[in-house]
Amino acid sequence: MQSGITHIVAVASGKGGVGKSTVAMNLAAALSHRGKAVGLLDADIYGPSQKRMLGVAEDVMPEQIDDKRLRPVAVHGIKAMSMGFLTDEKTAMVWRGPMASGALVQLLEQTEWGNLDVLLVDMPPGTGDIQLTIAQKAALSGAIIVTTPQDIALIDAWKGIEMFRKVQVPVLGVVENMSIHVCSACGHEEPVFGQGGGDRLAAEYDVELLARLPLSLAVRESADSGQAMVMAQSDSTEARIFLKIADALVSNLGDASVPTSPTITMGDD
Ligand SMILES: Nc1ncnc2c1ncn2[C@@H]1O[C@H](COP(=O)(O)OP(=O)(O)O)[C@@H](O)[C@H]1O
Ligand SMILES: [Mg+2]
Ligand SMILES: [Zn+2]
Repeated sequence: MQSGITHIVAVASGKGGVGKSTVAMNLAAALSHRGKAVGLLDADIYGPSQKRMLGVAEDVMPEQIDDKRLRPVAVHGIKAMSMGFLTDEKTAMVWRGPMASGALVQLLEQTEWGNLDVLLVDMPPGTGDIQLTIAQKAALSGAIIVTTPQDIALIDAWKGIEMFRKVQVPVLGVVENMSIHVCSACGHEEPVFGQGGGDRLAAEYDVELLARLPLSLAVRESADSGQAMVMAQSDSTEARIFLKIADALVSNLGDASVPTSPTITMGDD
């Protein structure tokens, strides 16, 4: 692994559509806002979303340094790498598991990340091949689990937590996303996806609930327009929540023991 990276942190959940990519992008921007050197690896090989979320133009390609190494795309103070930079958004990703895992390891290892305080890995949904590959090859300092309060998402979040525990990756905290909807007309609050799920998860698995992020038009719109909340609306509740998550992550990383002997091997396996 590249010696310049202090911490690699996965942003994960068992389920798709709960906001992993949204949280990963906004958290990366919040860490950068706090002066950290941040990288973001989009590990969703089949459905990369960071090109759009970061607002990277269609024709931008990572610069090739030599036949092995790529320079990450610098955007909003974040060093980013995604399969979306290398393939067409509409290209059907029909790779089998081992090929996808191989491509991901290449993206991780052949990107010239330089010095980073934190490399965030935006994980694809599930607890299969790709997740295990990352957990094993990336020498993760920890994982952040994103969930909605909905039972079905919580069940998948449990599976995610258990997978990381199995491979000795500390879970640094849980983010409950879409926890409440605040009506922009009258201000009343509605728990669209249920209530208290993040608390239950945190209590049951003895992990910290880092934040509750509301279901918010601003979050959706900013992500769709390639902006992070700390940039688009830096005074908003949502921006403050992402900064709070960033601060909690930095503090929890201080407590987490850094893996001392990463088992990285280059080449096929
Ligand atoms: N807190 C939120 N408020 C409103 N929309 C959100 C929020 N979090 C995520 N979304 C939207 O939900 C959709 C799925 O989010 P995404 O981050 O792609 O999920 P995942 O990476 O887990 O599949 C996206 O359209 C995103 O803009
Ligand atoms: Mg995603
Ligand atoms: Zn209302």
